[in-house]
Amino acid sequence: MLKKAMVINLEKLGEEPYASVLCYPKPSKAELKSRLKELQLLRVKALEFKGEKQAFNIAVLGKGCVGIVVIVHMDGEKAALKIRRVDADRTEMQHEAEMLEKANSVDVGPKLLRVSRNFLLMQYIDGVLFPVWLEGCGEKAQVRKVLRDVLRQCWRLDKTGLDHGQLSHAPKHVIINQKDQPFILDFESASINRKPSNVTSICQFLFISGAVAVKVAEKIGKRDKETIIEPLRKYKKDSSRENFERVLTVCGL
Ligand SMILES: Nc1ncnc2c1ncn2[C@@H]1O[C@H](COP(=O)(O)OP(=O)(O)OP(=O)(O)O)[C@@H](O)[C@H]1O
Ligand SMILES: [Mg+2]
Repeated sequence: MLKKAMVINLEKLGEEPYASVLCYPKPSKAELKSRLKELQLLRVKALEFKGEKQAFNIAVLGKGCVGIVVIVHMDGEKAALKIRRVDADRTEMQHEAEMLEKANSVDVGPKLLRVSRNFLLMQYIDGVLFPVWLEGCGEKAQVRKVLRDVLRQCWRLDKTGLDHGQLSHAPKHVIINQKDQPFILDFESASINRKPSNVTSICQFLFISGAVAVKVAEKIGKRDKETIIEPLRKYKKDSSRENFERVLTVCGL
């Protein structure tokens, strides 16, 4: 259910139920105090509670194992804030910020704005997750264009040596903005110490198995899986431009 957006200034964030969102799932006085200070240092002026997910009955953009994502107001501008859950299996947001910065260097992901121990501030993407967008997009050419863009972004990540780590099942990790531009989200599990497999993983998700692959096939035409798998194997051995272009071709892009 879509709830009405609420803008709450920093001064009021220490009150419930906002305090519990800021220190999800359970605030302590000390944690709350230090997080409010951190937000001030990040120059956040207000949080905007809007979105299709909920935390304590408050609308938010996203809720995962690591974070709660909300819109924030900076000086006249909106941004997205990923709030580290107090029960997250990581103690800080620095690693995710470093990985996102590396992705940004090849024009992938929301732009990193700032980071602190418990918060990652990034460009706000006003859009919908890929499976929802796909459901509503009737244009075959438009679907192909978006998919081509997603695969090219994955190729750039492969080339720069950054493995996203969660693209083989990515229903919540690709968002499409109002101009039909795709953004890959969530670099918390990303690494520069693994062999990158972004193109092969996203192809698995988009063309080979699962409900999204079925939907994609309905929209752009069904492909024989074997004809996709062979060029992907070749690409896995040698991620040359030529081998990548071959993957695009067999995927119908
Ligand atoms: N920059 C952004 N702009 C708009 N929405 C965003 C942005 N970043 C994240 N979101 C929304 O918040 C959701 C959760 O974000 P993210 O995946 O980074 O959190 P997480 O805690 O790591 O979640 P998970 O446990 O599912 O991996 C996304 O699926 C998306 O809907
Ligand atoms: Mg995550």
